Amino acid sequence: MIRQETIQTVIETARIEEVVGDFVSLKKRGANMWGNCPFHNEKTPSFSVSPSKGIYKCFGCGKAGTAVNFIMEVEKITFPEAIRFLARKYQIDVEEERQTEEQIQAGNERESLLQVTAFAQKYFTEQLLNTDEGKSVGLSYFRERGITDESIAKFQLGYCNNSWDDFTKHALAEGYKLDFLDKTGLSIVKPDEKKQFDRFRGRVMFPILNLTGRVIGFGGRIMTTDKNKPKYVNSPESEIYNKSHTLYGIFQAKSAIVSKDNCFLVEGYTDVISLHQSGIHNVVASSGTSLTNDQIKLINRFTQNITILYDGDYAGIKASFRGIDMILEQGMNVKIVLFPDGEDPDSFARKHRSQEVIEFIEKESSDFITFKTNLLLGESGKDPIKRANLIKEIVHSISLIPDKIIRQVYIRECSSLLSIEELILNTEVNKLLRQKFIKENSLDQQSVPEQQIVIPPEPQKQNEPSDVENQEREIIRLLLTYGHTDIFFEHEDEFKQMAEVPVKVALFIVNDLSNDEITFENPVYQFIYEAYQTSLKEETVIDQQFFLHHPESVVSTMAAELLLTRYEVSAAGWEKHNIFVKEEPSRLKQVVMRSLLAMKARKVEQMLDEIQHKLRNATDDEESMNLLQQFQTLKTISMQIQSQELGRVVTK
Ligand code: UTP
Ligand code: MN
Repeated sequence: MIRQETIQTVIETARIEEVVGDFVSLKKRGANMWGNCPFHNEKTPSFSVSPSKGIYKCFGCGKAGTAVNFIMEVEKITFPEAIRFLARKYQIDVEEERQTEEQIQAGNERESLLQVTAFAQKYFTEQLLNTDEGKSVGLSYFRERGITDESIAKFQLGYCNNSWDDFTKHALAEGYKLDFLDKTGLSIVKPDEKKQFDRFRGRVMFPILNLTGRVIGFGGRIMTTDKNKPKYVNSPESEIYNKSHTLYGIFQAKSAIVSKDNCFLVEGYTDVISLHQSGIHNVVASSGTSLTNDQIKLINRFTQNITILYDGDYAGIKASFRGIDMILEQGMNVKIVLFPDGEDPDSFARKHRSQEVIEFIEKESSDFITFKTNLLLGESGKDPIKRANLIKEIVHSISLIPDKIIRQVYIRECSSLLSIEELILNTEVNKLLRQKFIKENSLDQQSVPEQQIVIPPEPQKQNEPSDVENQEREIIRLLLTYGHTDIFFEHEDEFKQMAEVPVKVALFIVNDLSNDEITFENPVYQFIYEAYQTSLKEETVIDQQFFLHHPESVVSTMAAELLLTRYEVSAAGWEKHNIFVKEEPSRLKQVVMRSLLAMKARKVEQMLDEIQHKLRNATDDEESMNLLQQFQTLKTISMQIQSQELGRVVTK
C-alpha cells in the first residue's frame, strides 16, 4: 500500500497537460488545450484539457477525469499503479506501507512482467558492454555497422550470450520467477523435460519500448549467416506486448513527431537507429509485421501526416501500396519515398551525409497519386489498357478517403496529371463509393445468421440520457460547481425590514431535497449528494478537489465530466453558448431553484403514476379512498410546482 502522503504529493505535482502531453499532441485554444482523443478514433480534436482545473474531457466519447484517471485509462492500470507511474515521471519517492505476504504474492502480473523485461534489458546491455563475448561479438558488430555509443545508450541495445541458459539462470538467481520469464518469452520453458533455455542466445538485442518508455519486448538479430535460422527473433505476444499496437522507436520519436508534425515509417530496427544518427528523429518502424490499423492510430495521436520510407524493391513497393490505402482510409495524409533498389533507409543513411539524407527524403517525397502514377505509368507506358488499370488503381485509393473535400483535391490533381476530365473521375469515385456502401450494408445483414438476430434496445434510451438522468446530473453539477457560492433570499428581519440573506448553494439544495426525502437513482450522484449532506451536518468543508481526486474512479471521472462543460472550455465560435455560461452565476438562484423544482415535479409525477396503478388494482373501498386522497394531495402539489415553474418562465 502506498502511503496517503505520497498519493497526495503525486496528485499535487502531476500537471494534467504534461501527463496527457506525453500521449497526445495538445494545442492551446482559448483557456484550454485540445488534441485528438487517445480513447477513440477521430480526425478532428474533441479532446480537451483544462490546466487550471487539472482535468480532461473528450466531447466525442465522453471520457473524462484527472491526470491519475488518464494514466489508469491509457495504460490500463489500477489506481496505485497509476500513482507509481506518475511518481516515476516526477521523480517522487513512493513510500509504501508494509505489505502482507499475500499482497506481495498477488502483486499485479503486468507489473511483474514489466519488471522482468526491465531487468533483462539491463542485463543484456551489461553483457554487451562489459563481457568478453559481448564486446567481441555484439559490440564489434554494432561498431562495424556504424552504430554509435550514443545510439546504444539511447536505444538501450544489448547482447545475449551464446550459451544455453546463461540469462535464465541469472534471472532465476536474482529472484525472478520462471513463470514470468516464460510469459515474457525471454526463456523457452519445456514443461515435460523440465528444461529451459534463453530464447535470444547469441543475438544482439533491440528492446521494444512502449509509449512511456518501459521495455515490453525484444527483437534479437542473429550474428551468424546461418540460413536455417531467422535473421530476427522477436518476443512472443504477451500481456505486456501486443505487436499490432506497437511501433518500434515510438518512445524516442514521439516528441519529434509532434514538433515536425510528420512521422516517417520504416520497416526495420536498424532503419530507425540509422536515421536517428542522421539527425532524423521522427521515425518509427512497423518491425517486420505488415502495417496495422492500430499502428496507424498510434501515430494519429501525434500527427496526421505519415511518410512511408520503403525499399525500392518489389516487396517494398507492394507493402507501401497496402500502407497507403490503410492510411488514407483513416483520413490521414500520406507521402511516399522509395529508396533506390537494393537500399533500405539504414544502408542509404550510412552511405550519405546527414544533410544528403534529409534532402533526399524531401526531394523524393511524393503524394500517393504522383507516386502511383509514376510507378505504374513507367511500366505501362502508353498502352491504353494498362493506362485504364492505372486510373482504376488511383480512383480506388481516392475513394477510400473519408473527407469529401480532400477527395476532391486529389481528383483535381489526378485529372491534371493524367489529363482526364474531373467529371469522369468523379463519376468513377462515386461509383465505387456506392458499391462500397451497398456491400457494407448488405454484408452486415448476411453475416448475422437469422436465428441469432438480436433486437437491440431502443437506441434513444441507450445513447441519450433519460430525463431522470439529466435532472439528477444537473443538480449534482450545480452542487459541485457552485456549492460554496452564496445565493440571496429576501427576508423580513425583526424590524420588519426587508433584508437579503446569503445561503450557500450546497446548503440550499441539501435542505430542500432532504425536506422532501428525495434521493438520486444514479448511485454516483447519490454518493456525491450524501457526501455534501454529511459535510454540512458535520460542518466540515468538502469541495471539488475531494471528488476529483477520489480513489473510486467512477466518482472522480464523473466529477471531472460535470466540471468541464463544452460551453465553458470552447473558444471562439461558441459565443452564443458562452453568454449562457457567463450569465449562469448571475442567474444562479433561478437556475438552482428551477432544477430542484424540475426534479421534484418528476418525482411527484412518478408517485402519481404509482398511485393510479394501485387504484386500478385496489380491492376494497377504504383502500381506494385512501389512495384517492393521496392522489388529490399530490395533484395539488404537482399543480403548485407547475405554476411556480411557469411563473419563473414568465418572469425571467
Ligand atoms: P529486413 O530483412 O529488411 O532487415 O527486415 P533489416 O532491418 O534491414 O536488418 P539488417 O539491416 O539486415 O540488420 C526488416 C524488419 O523486419 C523484421 C525486423 O523487425 C527487421 O528489422 N524481421 C526481419 C523479423 O522480424 N524477422 C526476420 O527474420 C526478418
Ligand atoms: Mn538492412
